[in-house]
Amino acid sequence: MANIAHPAAVQAEYDPARRRISLNRIFQIPQMFRPAVSSFAGATIGHLNLERPSIGLTAIAAWFRFARWRRMHPIERPADGKRRDRGWMYRSIVEKERLNSEPLDFWEFGVFRGESLFTWLNIISHPDARFVGFDTFTGLPERWRATEVEGAFNVHGRIPETKDQRCRFEAGLFQDTLLVFAGRHDFSRRLVIHLDADLYSSTLFVLTALAPYFKRGDIIFFDNFICSMDEFRAFEDFVKAFRVKYEVLGGVQEYLRVCVKIL
Ligand SMILES: C[S@@+](CC[C@H](N)C(=O)[O-])C[C@H]1O[C@@H](n2cnc3c(N)ncnc32)[C@H](O)[C@@H]1O
Repeated sequence: MANIAHPAAVQAEYDPARRRISLNRIFQIPQMFRPAVSSFAGATIGHLNLERPSIGLTAIAAWFRFARWRRMHPIERPADGKRRDRGWMYRSIVEKERLNSEPLDFWEFGVFRGESLFTWLNIISHPDARFVGFDTFTGLPERWRATEVEGAFNVHGRIPETKDQRCRFEAGLFQDTLLVFAGRHDFSRRLVIHLDADLYSSTLFVLTALAPYFKRGDIIFFDNFICSMDEFRAFEDFVKAFRVKYEVLGGVQEYLRVCVKIL
């Protein structure tokens, strides 16, 4: 109940008329000067390798956008003020969306040893629900950050063991498995996906690959939404590119984990 910004106040700050004097416009070079500026930039700063500092600037910009996004999407907090974990978020959304009342498709992207997928197998009790866990099972295909480099989460191809007949796994890069899998799939059931692949590239790939199939009511869980250069940025790019309408269903740990529903 508490901690929800007044929607009217949020709306007023987001008035498009105010955005007319944005810095963005000041830095926009008039069309007629662009070839000259491009040529000048190529001959001067083009000699410098500013990739690393520019990534830093991009990261700062992404944090600004993330901070703005979370302000525009207030999440209801538990009345008792206690911190909740992702298991609590899964359960509360399963209840709110009555996810146990229908045979849904649940796909997880980023399985590792299966911790979150096994939690989902316990929570979703419908006997006809179907689960698919996608992962290389040889770790991250590229560096994510200093502590999780290429190959982090490598389980040497060992697929998690479960006796639950509703669950299967697709081993390999999402980029190699998903399009083929989706092409053969009947998307008539509600699709619930859990994105826990950490990387911008992987998250963006999954969202864009599934974009033609998403329908009203499908649900997306993010495990690291707070990572503004990765899951958040991928979601932001996906929403912009496909003009996706969505509703935020919930979140925990200050937007570390977030859940949205396609409208
Ligand atoms: C943080 S781990 C998943 C953790 C798991 N969901 C849990 O809660 O224990 C991230 C996983 O994403 C997988 N991954 C990332 N990008 C991938 C890609 N493009 N294709 C396949 N797997 C990928 C990695 O192999 C890694 O196992």
